[in-house]
Amino acid sequence: MSDILIHTEDGITTLTFNRVDKKNSITAAMYAALADAVEAARDDTAVRCVVFQGHETIFSAGNDISDFLNNPPAGEDAPVFRFLRAIATFPKPLLAGVCGPAVGIGTTLLLHCDLVYAGDNAAFSMPFVNLGLCPEAASSLLVPQLMGYHRAAEALLLGEPFMAEAALEVGLVNRVLAPSEVTNYTQSVARKLAAKPLSSLVETKRLMKKGNAPQVMAVMAEEGASFGRMLREPAAREAFSAFMERRKPDFSKV
Ligand code: COA
Repeated sequence: MSDILIHTEDGITTLTFNRVDKKNSITAAMYAALADAVEAARDDTAVRCVVFQGHETIFSAGNDISDFLNNPPAGEDAPVFRFLRAIATFPKPLLAGVCGPAVGIGTTLLLHCDLVYAGDNAAFSMPFVNLGLCPEAASSLLVPQLMGYHRAAEALLLGEPFMAEAALEVGLVNRVLAPSEVTNYTQSVARKLAAKPLSSLVETKRLMKKGNAPQVMAVMAEEGASFGRMLREPAAREAFSAFMERRKPDFSKV
């Protein structure tokens, strides 16, 4: 069974993280599959919206740490950056149904979704600093815009998880539901969107996003260059090794 399930029906493409034994952490191959699927959904006039979902217990643990350690993304055409550009520029509605932990890109991809529905067990975190890294997905721009600077600093400098109700309060999610209801609810909203005229959806999204769009792309490129460099530096190597060895990282020498 594939680690990313791709299903298109009635104008809705649903992309499901399907690697629950590794907490839906995302490898380069999975990023490539996601980028291909999002690009295909963009170009297919029969598709009106895309839904991201995981499992009732886990959305995604973010980047696969051992894959990052052994196979760090090289250059801006690396699958992870291709996926990020694909969602940041996706012209049709993007939805997400999120239950359980949403770590790193599991949270930052939601900044590019138009509608997000969360289970009451959802826990969002952006622990880039704790991994010796820096924000990605334009989160250094979009998180302060969304939450205000001080709450963004808490989320990005401390990197501690915040729960669904806090995400609702800051506007990262639209509604909090019982985990068992998230998939059906998100699909029902996707069906509502799929029944609307595509040209109006696309133009409305374009008008809402256009003011920020150039800055999002510029920040994403700058973050990507820093992130790619920092992945190879001692702090990240120590953090990744500590995760693999199930010990606390020692940043005293970096
Ligand atoms: N990359 C690679 N493997 C990961 C992973 C990741 N990001 N997250 C979890 N896994 C693997 C674990 O190594 C473990 O594998 P094993 O069973 O072969 O030992 C398995 O998934 C289960 O993870 P575990 O940590 O035991 O689950 P948990 O329920 O106790 O905790 C999380 C779940 C998501 C809170 C925790 O796994 C976590 O913090 N993961 C790292 C998140 C992270 O820092 N991501 C990078 C963001 S840039």
